[in-house]
Amino acid sequence: MTTVEQTQQLRDRIAELEAELAERTHEAALKEQQLERYAADLRETFKEERARAHELHRSYMLTVRALASAVEARDAYTGRHAERVAAYGLQIAAAAGMSLSDEPQIEFGFLLHDAGKVAVPDAILFKPGPLTPAERAIVEQHPVTGSEIVRDIDFLGAARDVIRSHHERWDGTGYPDGLSGTEIPLSARVFAVADTLDALTTNRPYRRASTFAKARVMIVRDSGSHFDPEVIAAYETVEDAELERIRREIG
Ligand SMILES: [Fe+2]
Repeated sequence: MTTVEQTQQLRDRIAELEAELAERTHEAALKEQQLERYAADLRETFKEERARAHELHRSYMLTVRALASAVEARDAYTGRHAERVAAYGLQIAAAAGMSLSDEPQIEFGFLLHDAGKVAVPDAILFKPGPLTPAERAIVEQHPVTGSEIVRDIDFLGAARDVIRSHHERWDGTGYPDGLSGTEIPLSARVFAVADTLDALTTNRPYRRASTFAKARVMIVRDSGSHFDPEVIAAYETVEDAELERIRREIG
């Protein structure tokens, strides 16, 4: 083969390689465009899913609030007790660094804790004097009734623990199951502090509301008996000013 022929052969090979490279580059560009489209589709789907989840949560929350209002409408003294307790509870849970503050179901549980009271007759619920043992037994049945009412509502998830166990005490002397210590679900242990805080700082027919500072002294005194000491430690880091702000906002 002459030098001229060899040169021509090399040129042809280079031209072939250049054509191949151009084709590959074009294919890569097409693939890149396709990937970009997939990414955009995914982003759009994710956005839609997030909007749907948000809407679903909003519907759940409206349903739960409607139920909680129906429970509270009977009792003029407690007013917006459930909403205040839910806000105090979330504040204490967050102070404890508990993941439950990220679980929306827990708030549902705080709001619906007394759902079972619908089954307690007015004559007992609003009796001005002390309750007889039989009447007390009916009142103390409300966590059981409540947990039966919400048993099959799956979206309530862990909220059902609060409804069942919100009257348990750390030392095991609560009801309805006589659980003690960490047998009591954490959400219910947090709730117990928030519930007592609201009861003490609200006017009742038989006594005036305490200040938040006074309520704190009474609650901290019951650490280890009524309340979980760790939850109390978390509560102690929440400023009274913050709790007073919640109270002012909710009313
Ligand atoms: Fe209750």
